[in-house]
Amino acid sequence: MKRVAILISGGGSNMVKLVESMTGDHPARAVIVGSNDPQAGGLAKAAAMGVPTFAVDHRAYKGDRPAFEAALLEPLLAAEPDILCLAGFMRILTPDFVQRFEGRMLNIHPSLLPKYPGLHTHQRALDAGDAEAGASVHLVTPELDAGPILGQARVPVLPGDSAETLAARVLTQEHRLYPQVLRRFAQGDLTPITLTAA
Ligand code: GRF
Repeated sequence: MKRVAILISGGGSNMVKLVESMTGDHPARAVIVGSNDPQAGGLAKAAAMGVPTFAVDHRAYKGDRPAFEAALLEPLLAAEPDILCLAGFMRILTPDFVQRFEGRMLNIHPSLLPKYPGLHTHQRALDAGDAEAGASVHLVTPELDAGPILGQARVPVLPGDSAETLAARVLTQEHRLYPQVLRRFAQGDLTPITLTAA
C-alpha cells in the first residue's frame, strides 16, 4: 500500500477528491495532509476525513526558504510518504526539497502545460484567445511547472467566459483528472492520459 502525503495552501478541493479516491482496492492511502497556512480551509476537511494534518506557517520564516522547508520536512518525513502530491500548494520549492522527492512528487497546474506555467493561467488563456484550456498533472522537477506530464484535462473556452467561469470549469475537470492520474501512478503506470470534458 503506497503512503500518500498531500500539501495544500487553501480550500483543498483537489486534496478532498484525492483522499476520497483512495479507498477499497486503490493501491494507495492518504497518510498526512500539510499546509503552509495554518488557516487553510482544507486542513479541517482532511481532519474530518480522518487524515492527520500539520501546518508550518511560511510567514514565520520570512525569506528563509530553506528554514521553512526544513520545518515542513519534519512532519512530512515522519509520515514516511511514498508519494507526495501538491494540490493547490502555492509555495515555490527549492531544488533541494524537490530532489528529495523527485520521481514521486506530483503537482496539478491549471493550464495545458507547457502553456502558461506560473500564475493567472486562465486570464492568460482568455487574453490569447485560446479555444481550449484545462489542467495538467505533472511530475515535479526543480524547474517550475515543467516536469513530465502524466495527465491533462481539456475544456472549451466559451464565449463570455471570465477567468472565474473558466477556472470553475477547469476545476471540475481537475477533480476527475488528479485521482485518475494518482491511481495509475501508484500502480507504476506513467502512461499519460487525456480527459475531455464529460
Ligand atoms: C486549483 O485551480 C489548482 O489547479 C491550483 O490551485 C487551485 C485551488 O485548488 N493548483 P484547491 O481547491 O485548493 O485544490
